[in-house]
Amino acid sequence: MRKKITVVGAGQVGTTVAQLTAYKNLGNVVLIDIVEGVPQGKALDLQESGCLQVFDGIVTGTNDYKDTANSDIVVITAGVPRKPGQSRTDLLAINGKIVKSVTEEIMKYSSNPIIIVVSNPLDAMVHVVKKVSGLPKNRVMGMAGVLDAARFRTFISLELQCSMVDIDAMVLGGHGDSMVPMPRYATVSGISITDLMSKEQIERLVDRTRNGGAEIVGLLKKGSAFLAPGASAVKMVEAILRDKKQILPCTALLEGEYGWSDIYFGVPVKLGHNGIEAIIQLQLTDEEKTAVDASAKEVKEMIEEIDKIL
Ligand code: LAC
Repeated sequence: MRKKITVVGAGQVGTTVAQLTAYKNLGNVVLIDIVEGVPQGKALDLQESGCLQVFDGIVTGTNDYKDTANSDIVVITAGVPRKPGQSRTDLLAINGKIVKSVTEEIMKYSSNPIIIVVSNPLDAMVHVVKKVSGLPKNRVMGMAGVLDAARFRTFISLELQCSMVDIDAMVLGGHGDSMVPMPRYATVSGISITDLMSKEQIERLVDRTRNGGAEIVGLLKKGSAFLAPGASAVKMVEAILRDKKQILPCTALLEGEYGWSDIYFGVPVKLGHNGIEAIIQLQLTDEEKTAVDASAKEVKEMIEEIDKIL
């Protein structure tokens, strides 16, 4: 039977997720938003590209959560994006309330979905979804690391003027300024970038990765990045629906891994049919551990803050 993928939020990220999901023939797509007409219009427009891009899925646009019933995967992109000068944390209260009510609605009609959260501030929003949905931890995750690693990979490719095809990277931590790109685990055809670049070059690329979201916000002036974020979420959807068992950096609930508990945090996981099927524990150097702990502390504070608000 065809899978059902619901995308909550028909903004730029949601539309990109719906489009790529349909184009990859992953199943039927439901695009839902509170604004009347917009999800319906975008869904119809996308459906009409089906004979050109050649996909079989039915694309439905709606304002009614009944249409999301029995979703296999739900991607939550709802919320307001950052404005120039705003941090992701500035969005905590407003997006917390939106994500809470979205989760309640989703859970009325789907008993056991896998939920991928994209809304910011990411780590706190995934925590809200986990708490409100009551779903097991393998079924609730956030998209951040795939995007942050994609940015790191891009900057490595531009710096070395080599194809991105062979570049891989790992980024740990919260989806904020304290995220931890891992040069030791960034490779070009298996060669660590620590063998290919100077310390200064690496430091520059790490900084640019940390500020990757803000760089785009600053350029766009209105709204934030959506093409790479959308593609990153769909990579996770595909890994799950096709049971690929891919090892990717995702935001997962830690229960003792990396020395932290009860926080959603970016770590390498195995993604397959059951969602997060394993968390990979890396042996960190002292310097890496310090950076990871600083990021975890920041995430923990944000989670405590949202718990007070909601
Ligand atoms: C970014 C947003 C999606 O990093 O968090 O661009």
